[in-house]
Amino acid sequence: MSINYSERIPNNVNLASDRTLQRALEHWQPRFIEWWNEMGPQFGGNDVYLRTAIGVDVEGWASYGRVKMPDYRWGIFLADQDPARTIGFGDLLGQPVWQQVPGEFRAQFRRLIVTQGDTEPASVEQQRLLGLTCPSLYDLRNLFQVNVEEGRHLWAMVYLLHAYFGRDGREEAEELLSRHSGDVDKPRILGTFNEPIDDWLSFFCFTYFTDRDGKYQLKSLAESAFDPLARTCRFMLTEEAHHMFVGETGLSRVVRRTLELMKEQNTDDPASIQCAGGIDFPLLQRYLNFWFTSSLDLFGSEVSSNAATTFANGIKGRPDEGLYTEHVCLDASYELTVPDDANSTRIEQVPLRNAMNEVARGAYVKDCEMGMKRWNMMIKRAGVNVVLTLPSTQFRRGIGSWANIPTDLQGRRISEAAYAEGLTLWLPSEPDRAHVKSLMQRVVTPGKMAGWIAPPDRGINNMPIAYEYVQL
Ligand SMILES: [Fe+2]
Ligand SMILES: [Fe+2]
Repeated sequence: MSINYSERIPNNVNLASDRTLQRALEHWQPRFIEWWNEMGPQFGGNDVYLRTAIGVDVEGWASYGRVKMPDYRWGIFLADQDPARTIGFGDLLGQPVWQQVPGEFRAQFRRLIVTQGDTEPASVEQQRLLGLTCPSLYDLRNLFQVNVEEGRHLWAMVYLLHAYFGRDGREEAEELLSRHSGDVDKPRILGTFNEPIDDWLSFFCFTYFTDRDGKYQLKSLAESAFDPLARTCRFMLTEEAHHMFVGETGLSRVVRRTLELMKEQNTDDPASIQCAGGIDFPLLQRYLNFWFTSSLDLFGSEVSSNAATTFANGIKGRPDEGLYTEHVCLDASYELTVPDDANSTRIEQVPLRNAMNEVARGAYVKDCEMGMKRWNMMIKRAGVNVVLTLPSTQFRRGIGSWANIPTDLQGRRISEAAYAEGLTLWLPSEPDRAHVKSLMQRVVTPGKMAGWIAPPDRGINNMPIAYEYVQL
């Protein structure tokens, strides 16, 4: 079904046919705009070159044009329904998918949708001040594109809550606007989404690592037997790809600029790179360590009976379930490395269904490695002897078997004291943060870039890099 833009809430779910639902969402809409104006990007009503969804086909699904952000047409867009779709995994494999939520799974679905929904506005809140220190108009536009789409993802989840969860759902939708990132009394649900993102290096790490966690959560939910949820998530993934593009190209441009500075200054001394206004590789590595490990916890515990149940019942599958040959996973087991009492580790065999969080985390880590490989290739080609790495998934965990177990970056167990000392070298220090902060000077001349980041390879939607992406 095509998207109807003549309605107050653009949608492709035939909203006009359900007056009660339409009224409920139209009631929520001004609350959302109020939240956006109060908690969203602090930037006023400038024209921004944004893409807006106009269809849900992979080909040509978006149009580009100048929009004032509060006038962005947030709407409800689901990927097309496949009438022949059946459940792709678990005990109910092969049965028809559900168009309504089965009563016995209602609480689980509600919790999953609320948790996903909570992350979307949370990231907008985390990033609200970044526009004030943008490294270029191109980057400013990308930030705003990410922000409006996270706003739309909130709409996606709120639609499901309103349409399928009755009064409980409406109440949850209100709560999604009343929790706030970092709020002492009413924080966002997940830890990473309460971390402040007040510099652009953190923003690029967040879009690289944390939006990628989002991608894997959405991939799991896109497998769900609850078809409206699966279709919602499939379309969200189309938008999400740009967020990870922003993170990956942002970090690539940092790497490229640092290599240029090293060559110009003929030095690999971190302090000299900092003096030259750049981001040295050891500092970059500490930021990567922080955001990667913080995002790992979002997948949950390695062993989880909850993960086993949601898989068995068709609620949440593995990311890219279609890549596996066996979809019931009743007899298979999974090998985990867990800490033992003797300050070392042992191998534990757990039923595969209980290890589904770890399966998803493993796929995520592989995906994170791809960008690292590309950056290391650039570094190597420049003749510089540095390798950026991802820490072990056992390092600095707050959730699961490795929670609060002191290890080094390679995941080897060490003493509390060695860990405490190590952290000062492995994670961003106060001077690191102060340096990064000092680089955050606003650059808004079209085509110009801040000194710590290289220009992108190309502009957005074939426009030149020097295009005025945001009119100030
Ligand atoms: Fe999102
Ligand atoms: Fe995102």
